[in-house]
Amino acid sequence: MRTLSIGILGCGQIGSAVISLLRRKGGALLRDSGTQFKIVGVTVRNPRKKRAVRIPSALLTTRGDSLVRDPRVNVIVELIGGTQAARKLVLEALRNGKDVVTANKALLAEHGDEIFELAQKRGRKVLFEASVGGGIPVIKALREGLIANRIDSIYSIINGTSNYILSEMSERNLDFKEALRLAQRKGYAEANPSLDIEGVDSAHKLAILVRLAFGGRVPFKEIYSEGISKIRNEDIAFAEEFGYRIKLLAIAKRDRDAIEARVQPTLLPRNHILANVSGSFNAILLRGDEVGEVLFYGKGAGPEPTASAVVSDLVDLAKGSFAPYCRDGRLSSPRRLKIKSISSILSRYYLRFHVLDKPGVLARISSVLGRHRVSISDVIQKERKLGGIVPLILLTHDAPENQLRMAIKEIDRLGIARGGSQVIRIEAEPK
Ligand code: HSE
Repeated sequence: MRTLSIGILGCGQIGSAVISLLRRKGGALLRDSGTQFKIVGVTVRNPRKKRAVRIPSALLTTRGDSLVRDPRVNVIVELIGGTQAARKLVLEALRNGKDVVTANKALLAEHGDEIFELAQKRGRKVLFEASVGGGIPVIKALREGLIANRIDSIYSIINGTSNYILSEMSERNLDFKEALRLAQRKGYAEANPSLDIEGVDSAHKLAILVRLAFGGRVPFKEIYSEGISKIRNEDIAFAEEFGYRIKLLAIAKRDRDAIEARVQPTLLPRNHILANVSGSFNAILLRGDEVGEVLFYGKGAGPEPTASAVVSDLVDLAKGSFAPYCRDGRLSSPRRLKIKSISSILSRYYLRFHVLDKPGVLARISSVLGRHRVSISDVIQKERKLGGIVPLILLTHDAPENQLRMAIKEIDRLGIARGGSQVIRIEAEPK
């Protein structure tokens, strides 16, 4: 029987769930892997605080810097989140010959190059199944099950908080703030919920998926991200009338020698498989050149699903069954992926204006769009209130983003739309 000695950095909800899972399933995991999983230290901010799991006081420490150097420890499980302290501790753990398991998507998206490079130099492993999609084993699938494929596209819902908020707004007609408060109460949101609602958390996770799927360094700052805080109930209702649902999607696709990678609220046809993913669930739809489409669906947030992924990494380490390669090279590949700028993409758009209900307004808006080569595919104007303000909604055919933006600026300058305009991209593919 082997023993894997584990040091855990951070004992919040996820740390407690990992400890509880190892306790409850330790016997079964030992039978499966021939390894005993032994926790030798846990860092906490306040050793006297009451926790969901009982931890012998001899294991508790406030000194992460000592735990990552502790000669008894084989693997450090990093669950403190954030990028500064976590980066220092993970690098120090690798320098001290420890393998690392982390759930920290921000850390890997922003400092992955440095971490994977050091791990390779030191012959150590960094496993991160819990960093994307909570309990969904999508990282392992990209590394192993789909290894024979060239991945052509990723369409994903990878922020449970935003998906929960949009679902509650749509199904229960809640406004954005009420739905956010509920998501926080359920424990889905990050400590700083703006990471969830402004699309940053999804962009962190997308950067990790892109690195694995397309192979190469991902300049995180070049991933465009837009959140859901400006989506109004009326947009959800109008989208429904056209047969669409609004979802926060993280999208990546090959486009000749570059990659499109972006996070954005998106109108999806109601019958699209991702349009039917609701609540805090996550789903990742991958297209491989051999396998076609594959959908991964499950709980993307919460302590137990995340702990399930962390423990699967520990078992892989114990079994030595870790596949260090991603599709086009090592995780520390020197190749830098070229990310297309958002202004150069082509998309369909949902446009919503609040305009004065008087003759000629629609003609002026459509003439500006026409001059910028943006072609309209559908229009609705909800109520007639002669002389009053009414919502006017237009859907467009495919148009270049830079032209669309110029047209919107021009329309805003006309002074016929009140309270600013709403622009949401439409994705129809893949079905
Ligand atoms: N805040 C994240 C989410 C948790 O809402 O999906 C998991 O990363």
